[in-house]
Amino acid sequence: MKDVMILTGAGQIGMAIARRMGTGMKIVIGDKKLENAQAVAGIMNEAGFDTVPVEMDLSSRESILNMIGEGQKHGEISMLVNAAGVSPSQAPVEAILKVDLYGTAALLEEVGKVIKKGGVGVTISSQSGWRMPALTAEEDELLATTPTEELLALPLLQPGNIRDTLHAYQMAKRCNEKRVMAEAVKWGRRGARINDIAPGIVVTPLALDEFNGLRGDFYKNMFAKCPAGRPGTADEIANVAELLMSSKGAFITGATILIDGGATASYYYGPLKPTV
Ligand SMILES: NC(=O)c1ccc[n+]([C@@H]2O[C@H](COP(=O)([O-])OP(=O)(O)OC[C@H]3O[C@@H](n4cnc5c(N)ncnc54)[C@H](O)[C@@H]3O)[C@@H](O)[C@H]2O)c1
Repeated sequence: MKDVMILTGAGQIGMAIARRMGTGMKIVIGDKKLENAQAVAGIMNEAGFDTVPVEMDLSSRESILNMIGEGQKHGEISMLVNAAGVSPSQAPVEAILKVDLYGTAALLEEVGKVIKKGGVGVTISSQSGWRMPALTAEEDELLATTPTEELLALPLLQPGNIRDTLHAYQMAKRCNEKRVMAEAVKWGRRGARINDIAPGIVVTPLALDEFNGLRGDFYKNMFAKCPAGRPGTADEIANVAELLMSSKGAFITGATILIDGGATASYYYGPLKPTV
């Protein structure tokens, strides 16, 4: 038996974090597209990691439970990396809310019930959530603490209150941050920690869909005018995950770390500030 890492989302960010943290572990790689999970599993196994690919859908609690069950066949789950998600250019509003908002909440809840003492997790939100104006304290609390199965029925998530796929994505990512805070309290009872990383533009297939989508010019302008002057790499996200998931991050839980090359700073107080 080995300690088990649950990795959801066999994308570039997920793989970078799994490679950084997963040495010596059994890594169960889940993705809605089994071929993505198989591809990442193949690359990692050829690099000395011990992985098993599974088909899983983050938007389904049953699928999440199946993946956890698969993991438990190999040992205790001591790490979670949630890097599955769909972007505003990839899916309609309902799918974004079901995968990014509901699915993340269900996954954090279910893994939080079984995580090994001293275990750690990270989930990936987005800088995008930081560009949405503040919600009320009541709305934040609803996103943080509403029972997962009731989340999608919240009035603030109904069609009339969600303008478009970008707004749905921002609400989902804001919810991720709030959920991580509420879950950190529960995970703490097991001696475990859970944190969130909010990346800026990181070159991955998901980001390439954005560059080639409706908001392509917006994104290219964003990384050209952010203080870093470039998009980030998945390995830079893994640098933050390593801090959060290693003993150096032992005092960090319930936190969201923004890593965006300064794009958010520029959006509020620099050349990326909207003119209207
Ligand atoms: N790349 C960026 O610029 C960027 C910026 C901010 C946040 N993010 C977030 O990072 C996370 C990882 O994205 P990435 O950039 O590595 O993308 P990616 O496209 O490399 O990987 C995402 C993976 O998630 C999988 N997936 C999609 N829906 C799923 C579902 N319902 N169940 C299981 N798997 C599913 C996809 O098949 C894909 O393999 C996402 O949550 C994304 O919103 C990315």
